[in-house]
Amino acid sequence: MKRNAYIVGTGHYAPERILTNADLEKIVDTTDEWITTRTGIKERRIADAETATSDLCVAAARIAMDDAGWKPEDVQCLIVGTVTPDYPFPATAAIVADRLGLSHVPAYDFEAGCSGFIYGLIQAKAFIESGMLDRIIVIGSDTLTRITNWTDRTTCVLFGDGAGVAAVSSQGPGGLLGGWHWGSDGSVGHMLAQEAGGSRKPASHETVDANEHTISMQGGEIFKHAVRAMRDSCYLALESDGTPFDKVDFLISHQANLRIIDATARALKLEPEQVYVNIHKYGNTSGASIPIALDEALKEGTITPPKTVVLAAFGAGLTWAGMIIRWETGN
Ligand code: ACO
Repeated sequence: MKRNAYIVGTGHYAPERILTNADLEKIVDTTDEWITTRTGIKERRIADAETATSDLCVAAARIAMDDAGWKPEDVQCLIVGTVTPDYPFPATAAIVADRLGLSHVPAYDFEAGCSGFIYGLIQAKAFIESGMLDRIIVIGSDTLTRITNWTDRTTCVLFGDGAGVAAVSSQGPGGLLGGWHWGSDGSVGHMLAQEAGGSRKPASHETVDANEHTISMQGGEIFKHAVRAMRDSCYLALESDGTPFDKVDFLISHQANLRIIDATARALKLEPEQVYVNIHKYGNTSGASIPIALDEALKEGTITPPKTVVLAAFGAGLTWAGMIIRWETGN
């Protein structure tokens, strides 16, 4: 009998400290009006000096495990999509698994930028459908404000910190993980990068002086790639499991820019009330943005089953991904 994978619990956590557009006006040459009209962002959450990515993950994972009714011994694997791990190694996932009291389960990080959460769901689906595992914690989390160049107005207004989690099980009821698509194009990866700190350009006084440990981005080019990649990912995910356009009830897109979200919604012929938007509260939280939005949409009752939901993302790599999730009646 074919095995299926279901989201049976969700959770999110964002740091309490809020940085508003008015606060940013005091740091760089920008205005609330520019940020709001060009991006849709009004404020974002910032991790304090003591808080690292794993701390956000642990807080969000506890909520998702409670939501799923899982005890630590129920979890068989934990994966974290992040570009801002606590350390280059050991993996943030192993730190999180230990702090959650999981008993020596496999735990690893993977890097797919803002597409990380969907990449994680696709991995969980494969593990479950193959019969390898039954219960997996999938986390998307980033503390991008740690690698933000606070003197660059073209990027520093965009990012925030957070974590979002899905508990994925072979047993429903829940959100059935359906059609999917994922891809990458490393030939344009340099358009969005943290240039130093890896094996190509290890950290040195020079790299620090040149500010190469912060995000550099060709925003306009990324924008064009994002619009195309999100649209195509949605189309290919729908095609992969034969879901017709008119069966899509809801879009949860990566929250990078309201204009990119609107373009994706138009490509799917969706009305504004069929699109979840929380970018005004959090900014771009990278790998955390889709699971934070998903958790909020489910818990606020914005998505009430039965619903067919499309997830769509793009990010550093460049990467992109789309996935169809079906919440069935009575879940
Ligand atoms: N405040 C005021 N003016 C600004 C600001 C700012 N914060 N930033 C840029 N400007 C100015 C520019 O200097 C430029 O001025 P000029 O015309 O005098 O040269 C003007 O505004 C227009 O700049 P553009 O870059 O053309 O603005 P655009 O409309 O493209 O918006 C933005 C820029 C918001 C960055 C947009 O391109 C975007 O959202 N791109 C996608 C970014 C993204 O999603 N990245 C994902 C990264 S996350 C990850 O994967 C880790």
